[in-house]
Amino acid sequence: MKTIHTVQELRQQLGDERDQGRRIALVPTMGNLHEGHLALVRRATELGDTVVTSIFVNPMQFGPNEDLAQYPRTLPDDQEKLAANGNHIVFAPNVHEVYPNGLDNQTSVSVPGVSEGHCGASRPGHFDGVSTVVTMLFNMVQPHVAVFGEKDFQQLAVIRKLTRDLFLPVEVIGVATTRESDGLAMSSRNGYLSESERATAPALYQTLLQTAQALGDGSKDFAALERAAREALTQAGFCPDYVNIVNSLNLEPATPDDRQLTILAAAFLGDTRLIDNVSVSR
Ligand code: PAJ
Repeated sequence: MKTIHTVQELRQQLGDERDQGRRIALVPTMGNLHEGHLALVRRATELGDTVVTSIFVNPMQFGPNEDLAQYPRTLPDDQEKLAANGNHIVFAPNVHEVYPNGLDNQTSVSVPGVSEGHCGASRPGHFDGVSTVVTMLFNMVQPHVAVFGEKDFQQLAVIRKLTRDLFLPVEVIGVATTRESDGLAMSSRNGYLSESERATAPALYQTLLQTAQALGDGSKDFAALERAAREALTQAGFCPDYVNIVNSLNLEPATPDDRQLTILAAAFLGDTRLIDNVSVSR
């Protein structure tokens, strides 16, 4: 496995691979890799001949009071895990490589509609940062296929739309959420939780499962279900940010006729913001 830090070297290496007719699969990450990330890498090995995992803690997608400085950087550990899971190239640029003209002077990509509610409402500018860096990574790597997790359901919807709207020649693949044995969705941010917060954390997924059960049983009072879920989260010790029942495709508020629904939720445990989602067909 090779680790590459510059766009120039990446282009050289991948140009050769493309000339040999190899299919390139990209897995964008911010590092501190866990089993959720590695499941994407393993899926990428099935989809492409050369798997590139990018590791870049993207400053553009963090708000001024968020955890950019604190975000764990664990490259040697990540390299070991990637090598063991069939990854071929680690692309780990530094901030100056990605934003040579500085963040204030950066051309950006903004996706209307799907990026606006939910996490987009709570984290202004976040999805512009994600959309911009993913577009840049697509242009740097020029992958045939790119793999993302359903854990970040709204992010996946934003990336699908941006890829379609800008005619980017990349196939976007979503992979189901990997969970701990108690149901907690794996996340680099779980490492911020104290022991007692970690014990509370699975209640987020449990609450979403209860809501999903009610939806599956035919309940159509979405507002009441959202309220009950927020109350259950508060009872469990969370500070809920939002619980929204949406149409799975456009992330608009669900209507009684929708067949594919997703419950999106974000909630704080102390300072740590956790997100999760569960989809229901009916
Ligand atoms: P990061 O949080 O590191 O996640 C990288 C990829 O792993 C994303 O596609 C995310 O959805 C997926 N992922 C994380 N936890 C997962 C889990 N438990 N199960 C399945 N997939 C999971 O998301 C980002 O980085 C950034 O926003 C990025 C897309 C790299 C742009 O900077």
